Formats: sequence, C-alpha cells, structure tokens
Amino acid sequence: MRYIGNKTKLLDRIYNAMKEHGIAGGSFFDFFSGTASVAKFFKQNGYDVFSSDLLFMSYCLQRAYITNNMEPEFKALLPKLNNCCSQSLLESPLDKVLCFLNNCVEKKHGFIYKNYSVAGTKHLKQPRMYLSDENAAKIDAVRQTIEDWYTSNLVTEDEYYVLLACLLESVSLFTNVAGVYAAFQKKWDPRAIKPFVIKPIELCIGKKTGKAYNTNSSELLATVKADIFYLDPPYNERQYAPNYHLLETIAKYDNPELRGVTGMRDYSNQKSAFCRKETALAELEEILKNAKCNYLLLSYNNEGIMPQEDILNMMNKYGKTTLVEFNYARYKSNSNGEADNKKAVKEQLYIVDLLKL
Ligand SMILES: C[S@@+](CC[C@H](N)C(=O)[O-])C[C@H]1O[C@@H](n2cnc3c(N)ncnc32)[C@H](O)[C@@H]1O
Repeated sequence: MRYIGNKTKLLDRIYNAMKEHGIAGGSFFDFFSGTASVAKFFKQNGYDVFSSDLLFMSYCLQRAYITNNMEPEFKALLPKLNNCCSQSLLESPLDKVLCFLNNCVEKKHGFIYKNYSVAGTKHLKQPRMYLSDENAAKIDAVRQTIEDWYTSNLVTEDEYYVLLACLLESVSLFTNVAGVYAAFQKKWDPRAIKPFVIKPIELCIGKKTGKAYNTNSSELLATVKADIFYLDPPYNERQYAPNYHLLETIAKYDNPELRGVTGMRDYSNQKSAFCRKETALAELEEILKNAKCNYLLLSYNNEGIMPQEDILNMMNKYGKTTLVEFNYARYKSNSNGEADNKKAVKEQLYIVDLLKL
C-alpha cells in the first residue's frame, strides 16, 4: 500500500544492519506498524511478533497479516453463497468469496457514495472527487456485505479482517489522490476511473501467531516484552489520521461526522506526540526508559523534527548507541497532498543495545 514511511523497500537493509551489529532475538515489537510491512517481514523470518498502531485501518492490516495464520476457509459462508459466480475447483475459498463480492452484490448509495463521490456530494460547492460514483457505490456494497456476514456469524473474526484488509488494500488502488487523502485531485487520475475490483491480499502464514493492537503503543510498555523493539514513528508534523481519513472511515464504517472540503473525520484522539517538536523527544525517552527489550531500533531520517544530536545524546544514557545511515529516494507528497516527487534523503537506523552501557 502507498503509505508515508512504508518500509517495504528498506527491509533488507534494516535486517542486514541488524545482523551486522549482532542484534539477535526471537521476538519483535513493531511499535508503529502502519501497513504492517515490517511486522510481516519479521513474522516471515520466524519471530514472535507484536504490532500496534493508532489507526484502525492499520489494525485491520495487522490482524490480517500478523494475527491471522491460516488460509481462510469460509466454512460457514461458502455454502450460503448463491451460484452467481462461477466457482472453478482451482479457486481458493478466498478467491471464491472475492468473486462473489466483485460480481454478485448490488451497488449501494451508502456513506462512502454519499460523502466521497461527485454524485453524492453534488450539493457541495466543491463536490468531492475521491472516488468515481460507480466505485464508491461498489465499495459501500462490499463493506456492508462484509459487516453483515460478520454480524450474522457467517465469517470468523480472522476471515472478517482478511476481507477488510483485501478491501483497504484494493481501495487504495482506485482513489483519486496523489498519495495521501488530505486532498483529492481536481482531475480524474486514470486509476480512479477503472471499475473497482477487490483483490486478494498475499497472506503471511508463519510458524508463529502474532498479536496486534490498536492503541497508543506507549500504553503497551507495561505489558509487551520482546527482544527487539522497532520504532518507526512519524518524522514530521503531519499526523497520519487526517492523511488516511478515507481508509480509516472505510475500515471503521461508523458514519462519522465530517468536516471541511475534504470530508475529514475527527481525529483528536489519534494525534501522535511524535508529530510535535515540543513533545517528540520526551516521548521517545519515555519509551526508552520503560521498554522491556534488549535492543531498541529507531528508523528516522535526517530531516525529522528530532535533531540527530539530541537523539544520540538521549539514547546513549540508556545503552550503547550506533547510527547507521542509508541513502534513499524517499516518497514525498507536497503539503497539500497534491503532487508527488522523489527526494534523496538519508534514512537512519539508530540501534540501542540496552544490555551495554
Ligand atoms: C512512519 S509510519 C510507520 C510505517 C510502517 N513502518 C510501514 O512500513 O508501513 C508511522 C505510524 O505510526 C503511527 N503512530 C504514530 N504515533 C503513534 C503512537 N503513539 N502509537 C501508535 N501508533 C502511532 C501512525 O499512525 C503511523 O501509522
């Protein structure tokens, strides 16, 4: 998924740096999980994984990739589906269910259509161009069907989150935004006018079952213990909740009150202390002080709001600290979320060995 700070392309370099610095262990806490890309990687590499994020959309991804540990069978649901979709013997149960969602549910003029399509918002001075009318109605239909199946016990909790993750990953491929959702584009991106299709996620079946949380991760410091804590906090003032509000609303589907041109939901309880210069370093120190781990890794970059020297001085109070830097063409969208450009920055990995002072 396109997500600010997604570490997919850096995983090998992070892992190699860990190995070069003798960071070993069997359990891993992905403290700011986002797309769950890091948690997934460590689950695949045999670690016991914990993950957490303030956003519920991230929790859905974590539940699907980290907590779920089997191919969903949809035992209760499949016998109830009518035959509108041809079900070849080769298709997996997930493919069969997605085939049904793609072909056999009636479009609905629900919350997403009414608030994020042009037809649904034509009464506004600036109608919202997040989704085509057809796609918004399709997304409502799919989201409502998944919820109906869950509330009627036709899908298990794991199956529910796998379906929500398929929906969220797929929606992000059909939205008319330049990266983030803080603004919609005023012309249709070719991607957004293609007919919406819900696609399967690549499941992450591992030997170990992970545990996912949807909370301020600092609240887990008293309970979660792992060999390695991996911190990938926001680097600047831009909060994640407003930048991904549409995906959050599709995930929660809770009919929130919306504000402004972009139809933003309230995110006052999802603000991160890492997005404020005045609070970021103190928050990081609280984590270091209370973390039940042997090694703490922090991904950051040389343009972040916490100065490198302050981070190093503080970390050195808690353990032997090493800074590794990688050159990286980082994804950037401008302050209105309107344009993308690539910018070379130094991606940093701070490694704190809490066993050595
Ligand atoms: C840089 S992104 C993480 C990206 C992630 N590593 C990936 O590869 O997708 C930072 C994440 O931290 C989350 N976040 C910020 N402050 C948080 C907090 N106090 N507790 C939990 N999550 C937080 C944001 O919602 C966002 O998803």
